[in-house]
Parts: sequence; structure tokens; C-alpha cells
Amino acid sequence: MAKHINEIIASRRALLGGLVALPLLDLAACATPASTGATPNAGSSFTPVGATNADNVTLPPGYSWRKLIAWGDALYDGIPDAPILDTMTRADQERRFGQNNDMLALFAADYAFPPPKTQDRMILCANNEYTSIELTFPGLRSPRDITAEQLEALYAAIGVSVVEVARDSAGWRVVKSNGSSGRNRRITPFSPVVFSGPAAQHPWIVAASAIVNASEPARAGVDAPANAVRCGTGANCAGGLTPWGTYLTAEENFDGMFAGALDINAQLNEPALAIDASSFSYPGGGFADKAPRQFRLTENPHGPSLYGWIVEIDPYDPTSTPKKRTALGRKKNECATSAIARDGRVAIYMGDDQRDEHVYKFVTRDRFNAGDRAANVDLLDHGQLYCAQFDEDGRGRWIAITLDAANAAAAAEESPLRFRDEADLLVRARDAARFLGATPMDRPEDVEAVCDENWRGLGPVLIACTYNSERGFAHPGNPRRADPEHPNRAQSNLTGHIVRIDEANGDSAATMFTWAIFVMGGDPNAESATTRIRGNGAPAFISTAVEGEPTISGDRFACPDNMFIDSSHRVWITTDGSDAVFEDCNDCILMTPVATERPRPIKRFLVGPVGAELCGPLMAPDEHAFFCSIQHPGANDITGVDFATSRWQGTPPTSHFPDGGDAWPRSAVIVITRDDGGRIGD
Ligand code: FEO
Ligand code: CA
Ligand code: CA
Repeated sequence: MAKHINEIIASRRALLGGLVALPLLDLAACATPASTGATPNAGSSFTPVGATNADNVTLPPGYSWRKLIAWGDALYDGIPDAPILDTMTRADQERRFGQNNDMLALFAADYAFPPPKTQDRMILCANNEYTSIELTFPGLRSPRDITAEQLEALYAAIGVSVVEVARDSAGWRVVKSNGSSGRNRRITPFSPVVFSGPAAQHPWIVAASAIVNASEPARAGVDAPANAVRCGTGANCAGGLTPWGTYLTAEENFDGMFAGALDINAQLNEPALAIDASSFSYPGGGFADKAPRQFRLTENPHGPSLYGWIVEIDPYDPTSTPKKRTALGRKKNECATSAIARDGRVAIYMGDDQRDEHVYKFVTRDRFNAGDRAANVDLLDHGQLYCAQFDEDGRGRWIAITLDAANAAAAAEESPLRFRDEADLLVRARDAARFLGATPMDRPEDVEAVCDENWRGLGPVLIACTYNSERGFAHPGNPRRADPEHPNRAQSNLTGHIVRIDEANGDSAATMFTWAIFVMGGDPNAESATTRIRGNGAPAFISTAVEGEPTISGDRFACPDNMFIDSSHRVWITTDGSDAVFEDCNDCILMTPVATERPRPIKRFLVGPVGAELCGPLMAPDEHAFFCSIQHPGANDITGVDFATSRWQGTPPTSHFPDGGDAWPRSAVIVITRDDGGRIGD
């Protein structure tokens, strides 16, 4: 049972004594012999950007941005550069950049390990997370008027876009593929993929795969293994890169891909399916009469088991078939961040972004082979999945998710549920983690490990908990701000926070860690502990203090989502929903060093256009260009009114990003550089 925050504070103080006041990171102490880089210099001289509701990208003086690619832009020669949004078809969309881009990753055009520091040609992988009808088909008068063909085009707008990019004197630009040459490709929810690892033959996956392949015929000219399933990938939020040069895309809110209701008899016949549907919220609505058959729950009740995985893509081979790595477990995966452990095995960190869900780590059985890329091809099929348990005393552990332990824990709770085998355990990894005592978190999003330039994890790992709208008491690692007037009342966490763990002995494969609050979202200069957020006007606690100690200074923010840690160990943080708490500023990107004492200085680097969330922060290898995703500009206006409602009442778009004028808003990847050509952030 969760204790009240005051009790937790008391127990932490008693156990940690003065330790909590010490600097939170002593990188020198955890550096390994493999760490060959210069001493990180976390300084920065840019002038922080003020709060703004401008419908633009706002940057510090001396910085400029430009669009790299936007939703619908051509990936191939021979088709017009810009899309005609109203006539977009599935076939057209499959040759163009997807919608609502989120995670970004860059790979050197020629694989090398460690990754080269300077590159003029690279491969960009971008996740296309979801689509929303209100931001598509500008001529549509009502969502009810959408046709099955238009809906199919929207399915084709999600998944992953792989795009070659090159740098010339004018900066970074897209290199379109010509015919079969080049590496550009779209991977959509119709593309062939292979299920790999222990759950590949789970009965739900087998049943759903048959329906998918009957609904989506094989295409001439597309090479795929005989066991391929044409369910592709979807709901791709964040992800990660592997040291062997593959892209990991994380399937998150896949419930949104399914339409119609799950048949009650199917649930009665299979309690585990009913629990799965409730856990992932997939008895949804949508356009069950118009969606492709495989996405109708009445016809494909086990279809959701095909999603919620980490999917591995080889960006170097456009004919390769992506693999769903079931050993890493099924959940609403936000990310899949890798770090090499001391013995050469590889750890993959994952957040399951839903209220009170968990943080996970997978550790490979075998070691990374830096000299033979092909030797690593199926490294992610064998290893151990763990879930994180945070103790109140500032320590924590990675609990191995094993069949015996999960069934024993279920029996101890007198639950009738059991896990049949390893496959069942991984398909229902969430249930297993809950039985095993994983700590409920405030929506864990991105997890980023501090690594050296040889990809070796140094021990510190940051976990962004974006927010938790449900009132509750603190869980370890997920503090609550006290209400001065009602100190014992359950509270939500509407501004989010970032928690830091330190792996024991600086080893990414460790099973023990310590934790501390890295930053609390909120306003470090707030005169009052609360503010009112828009919408229903509920109060949000915006104090950034923990145990009476401010955690940040400088610029205010809420709802951290994605992070990028540069070579100086500066953390670049994007927000998603900060504008719902602090109305005077659109979602933004902020920077703070890993290695400073609290209060941690926060500097706002970028403010996005109206209605957009910021995601996919990333730097080019030489750190002279900063890439990020501007996702769903125009999704709401500056007062918080949702375009999903206002559009159908005749309101014009609230954003015209990136094209300006009266243009329809499009999600886009942008590139930021310094006007003097210097390193970003210095
Ligand atoms: Fe797609 Fe958890 O953000
Ligand atoms: Ca996210
Ligand atoms: Ca997000």
C-alpha cells in the first residue's frame, strides 16, 4: 500500500541522511576505462527564449531553423515534391513522408563502430506515430464523410519513414531515392514483418496473423520471408538505436488503430483477453465499417496482440523485413534506449507510457560483437526482461520477469490468472510486472542512459515521467507536491518530473540501482504553489520543490517527454502538453546539464508553433546541427480548444506551420544551426 509523501520523506531522510544534498552526478567516479572522451563541459552561452504563443519556431539569437521534410513530402524521384493533401491515397502516401513524426534517429551512411563523429551523408529514421482526421483532408466537411479509401491512406501515413539526408554548403537536405536505388522507404501497418523470439508463435499472434494475411495480400515485387505477417508497425512513438546500426521503433498507443468493440463472448471465453483489452483500452469506437478488415475488432479480436512490441529495422537494407522482438515484452512502449554493459552485453531501457505502468530493462544473453555487424543480427531474441521496483529509501532493483516468479506471485495474490508459458508471459508482460511488484510510475516516457563515446553505459539513467492526471499518493520515484491546505489529500502530478537512477557499479546490466529526483516540472519562481490549468480549470501544483528543496531554477516547464544527452552530458528535454499548464507558452525544448547540484538550471532553447508537441531531439554527430520533430501543429489553439472539435464547426486551422500564409499545417522535421556555424548550445 502506498505511503503518504510525508512518511516517504521521513523514511528517505532517515536512511540517506545528508546524502540527498550531495551533487547528483559524479561522472568521474563512474567513468569506466573505456571512457576515452574529453571531460564533459556542460557550459552553454545561448540566451534563453522567452515564453511565446507565436505560430513559429522561436530560437535564441544567432540560431536559425529550416524544414528538412514534412508530412507528405516525396521520398522518391518522379513524383511531385509536395503532396496534394485532399487527394492523398494509400499508394501515394506509401511513397511520401508519414504524418505526425515523433522519434528521430541518424545513422552514418556507411556503418562503423564507434559511430563516426563527422558525417556528410546519413540515414534518418523517423517514427510516424498516429493520424488524426481533423488535421488531414482539408476539404472534408465532416469526419463522418471520410471514405474507406481515405481511411486506408491514413493508416499508410503511420509507421516509420526512412530517409537519406546529406549535408552540403546549404546545410542538411533530403536525398530522394530513384527507382530501386537508394534507401528511402516507408514501413506502414501494411508492410511485411516477422515475429521473432519466444512469443512468435503465441496463439493470439498466430490467429491474428492469419486474418491479417488474408486481408492484406502479398504484393508483387516485395521480398519477404514465408513467415512474414503483413501487419507492419504502428503507433510508433519513441525508440532507439543499437550499436550494430539498427533502428528500434517502439509501438505505443496501438489501441487507437483498432475500430469497433471486442465481442463479449470472446472476452467471456478468454479472461486474459478481457484483461488485455481493459489494460490497453482497445474496446474502442472509430469507423468499424470503413477501417481495413484486419483493424476491426469484431473480425480480428486478437489483432492487438500484433502490436505493442519493439520492432527492429535495418536502415541500411531497404529490402530487409523488420523484426518484432518479442523477448522485450509487449506493452505501450515509449522508447528502447541501448547501453553496452561492462561485460559487453547490451541493455535496452523501455518506459510503458500509461498511468501507473512501469519501467523495463532487457539485457541480452550474448555480447555485442563490435567487429562483425552480422553477428549481432538476432542479439535481441535472447536475454532477460526486468521491471523496475523503486524502494522508499532511495534504492531500487530490477526484478527478473520469469515464468516461475510471475506464476508464484499471481498465486500469492490468490489471483486465478496464470501464465501458460514464456510466450504468454511476454505477450502479457504488463500483468507479470504488476504481480512481481514493479513500481507504478507517472507515465514513464523516454528513458535515456548516459553513455561514453563507445556506447558504454556509465550508470546514470534518466526517466521522464510526463504527468499523471489521476489523484493518488506518492510511489517511490514519483513524488507528490503537498497541498498546503490539505496535506493529507491525494494529489495528481500535472507537471511531471524526471527521475534519475544510477546503476550499481556503473554497470548497465546491474540488477540494483539508487534513485533520486532529477527535476520536477513546474515554475521555480512561482509565488503560489498552484496555478489553474485550462480546460476544466483544475488546479495544478507547480512547485518544483522536493522535501522543501527546489529542484530547478530558471525557466518553467511541464510534461517532459523525450530527451537527448549530448557529448557534454547536457540534457535536451522536449515537452508535450506544457501549454496545458502554462498557457503563455507553446510546447518547448529546454536544456539542463546532467552534472549540477540542485536547483538544476533550466534554459528554454526552442518554442514550437501553436498546437504542436516537440519530440525527437537529436544532434548530428558533430553537434553542429540539432534536429527535432514538430508534431501535430494546429492540434489546438492557444486557449486549449481542440481542433478535433472546432474544425467541424468551421474554425480554420490554428497553425500554418511550416509553410506559413494560409497553408494547411503539417508535422515536420526541422534542422537548427548556429548562424556562426558553431556547436549547438555552446
Ligand atoms: Fe507517444 Fe508517450 O508519447
Ligand atoms: Ca512520447
Ligand atoms: Ca508525446
